Amino acid sequence: MNYRHSYHAGNFADVLKHALQWVCLDYLTQKDKPMFVLDTHAGIGMYDLTGEQAQKTAEWEQGIGRLLQASQVPEALAGYVAAVRSLNDGDSMRWYPGSPWLTQAHLREQDQLTLSELHPLDAMELAVNFRRQRQVKVLQQENGYAAMKALLPPPQKRGMVLIDPPFEQRDEFDQVINALQAALKRWSTGTYAVWYPIKDPLTIGEFHQRVLALPQADKVYAVDLLIREPLDNTKLNGCGMLFINPPYGLTQQAPALLEFLRPLLAQDRGAQAQTQWLTD
Ligand SMILES: C[S@@+](CC[C@H](N)C(=O)[O-])C[C@H]1O[C@@H](n2cnc3c(N)ncnc32)[C@H](O)[C@@H]1O
Repeated sequence: MNYRHSYHAGNFADVLKHALQWVCLDYLTQKDKPMFVLDTHAGIGMYDLTGEQAQKTAEWEQGIGRLLQASQVPEALAGYVAAVRSLNDGDSMRWYPGSPWLTQAHLREQDQLTLSELHPLDAMELAVNFRRQRQVKVLQQENGYAAMKALLPPPQKRGMVLIDPPFEQRDEFDQVINALQAALKRWSTGTYAVWYPIKDPLTIGEFHQRVLALPQADKVYAVDLLIREPLDNTKLNGCGMLFINPPYGLTQQAPALLEFLRPLLAQDRGAQAQTQWLTD
């Protein structure tokens, strides 16, 4: 396991993922009923952008750095931007929240969050970061796909599974499909959000089709962003989020969110963005 998210925290991919995660949770918490969230690949939960690893790549400057400098952000991004600002003094940028923190910020008395992280050092840091949070359970050195098997369906019946693998392994897409297939059998009404990298855009259609072929995947929505023309397929040219059973409000907000982020995060004139229902 070589991947450490601290090198990439706050980059364009995090901005797309976390902005959509925030909106999704806004809508899932509109009803009073208890919510369960499982974050299968949690990372450490909070990142120091002045730390050695983040400084080495400075990827955040082309992501959250650009967004915080934008003058007028649309309504769809306002909550996420305010959350990041709340962690930092004025215009200075040091702390960037990971997906666990963004979920925790949404939790009400009745809600529960479970985090799984496989990397021993990151898992330990994650556990320290959330040690005082009664509603947050950290599964250290736990495989996120195994956590899906063990914990779904949750007693709360409502909620979300966020699947955000590092895609270091060649068969990561296969693992995601298998995990979704098993999870949907047991919990067909949950909201599932999967982040995926886009190197060669032609391979993404195949992933979408494989999700569509899952028997219980009746409502599937995808958000894709290319930050540059994908001339070199070894590079991370963009990323996407696929939702199964997205809250209605998310699909209403996503087009405006993406329309704003495409030019903002673009690294050349070939940047493209698309939101689409994959099901009818
Ligand atoms: C992209 S990062 C997660 C970032 C985090 N979701 C966020 O948005 O703040 C992927 C994380 O998954 C962890 N990981 C890799 N394979 C895993 C697995 N099978 N189960 C759980 N965690 C895993 C890595 O150590 C890494 O911290």
